[in-house]
Amino acid sequence: MDTFNAYRIFDENNTIEGRLVEATLDELSQGEVVIRTAYSSVNYKDALAATGAGKILRRFPLIGGIDVAGSVASSSDDRYREGDQVLVTGYDLGVASDGGFSEYVRVPADWVVPIPDGLTPFDTMAIGTAGFTAALSVVQLERNGLTTTDGPVIVTGATGGVGSVAVELLARLGYEVTALTGKDDQHDYLQSLGATTVLSRHELELGTRPLEKATWAGAVDPTGGAILAWLTRTTKYGGSIASSGLTAGVKIETTVLPFIMRGVNLLGIDSVLCPMDRRREVWQRLATDMRPTHLQTIAREVTLRDLPDAFQTLLQGKARGRYVVKIG
Ligand SMILES: NC(=O)c1ccc[n+]([C@@H]2O[C@H](COP(=O)([O-])OP(=O)(O)OC[C@H]3O[C@@H](n4cnc5c(N)ncnc54)[C@H](OP(=O)(O)O)[C@@H]3O)[C@@H](O)[C@H]2O)c1
Repeated sequence: MDTFNAYRIFDENNTIEGRLVEATLDELSQGEVVIRTAYSSVNYKDALAATGAGKILRRFPLIGGIDVAGSVASSSDDRYREGDQVLVTGYDLGVASDGGFSEYVRVPADWVVPIPDGLTPFDTMAIGTAGFTAALSVVQLERNGLTTTDGPVIVTGATGGVGSVAVELLARLGYEVTALTGKDDQHDYLQSLGATTVLSRHELELGTRPLEKATWAGAVDPTGGAILAWLTRTTKYGGSIASSGLTAGVKIETTVLPFIMRGVNLLGIDSVLCPMDRRREVWQRLATDMRPTHLQTIAREVTLRDLPDAFQTLLQGKARGRYVVKIG
């Protein structure tokens, strides 16, 4: 192969713009493992990065895409051989190192996760960074004592990437799931993923008291802002909130009362630098007891040409589920 297709992001006079280009292996970032991409995916962070809506990229020009799955094309590291099925999410991929929106991706071997038996490259990208973050959130909630008999668990931003996978995983594990969404026409979708109750964000009474009615045993929150503040006030005694995102805002205004009077736990969730042993353990669970069964409903397949539309839909908060980018 001489050249291949890639979606490269440029900074031209402070205007951030991406476009399809023909790339060569020589141009790719350094690393020991070259992956022949089968699929990538589109995350909220990709939309921020590729449009300049957020200052995500640390290098220009750069091939975008924070996720990749495919097979090893070549490796100078003993741990990987040609043909191995692998995935990469996070680290500097698509941020400071050329990313997954490309027919070939070169990465350091230390970033690579072998695709566990039971998952295909498509499955791993239907899950992607967003779904992995949902799984990490559920694992952390359980580590902090959450069990299925504790009461309802709420998922915010429920129709989004993190939200959709979280609803499905929690329902699959036997939790009573309440989904909070701003999309009033998507209640059926959320119920089809396993939500027992769907709340409309537009009808939500946030309240103003430092402690409101104790309702939630746990929460998966990719939204932040006023919604996260409300979660601190409405989580039950000893309950935990997994905070992973900021689509509703970065600022939280609350008091210490939920923490010191109800023992509420606020858990930070980071998928990017998640240590490799935890990463592999979570992927293993995603291939076994937590294996999502609704990925065909959650995921929509697109191509590199569809990326600009996908970015805009995500930024407007209108996306449902996950975008999987078919590349190979
Ligand atoms: N910590 C990590 O490692 C990590 C990893 C992945 C993602 N994230 C973060 O998690 C967040 C979600 O990512 P994603 O990929 O799931 O994005 P997404 O697919 O765009 O989903 C976000 C969802 O948030 C809801 N939302 C949008 N605007 C909102 C607003 N103004 N107020 C309240 N809710 C709003 C919408 O769901 P409804 O319409 O259903 O309410 C939207 O679909 C992002 O901030 C992302 O950066 C963090």
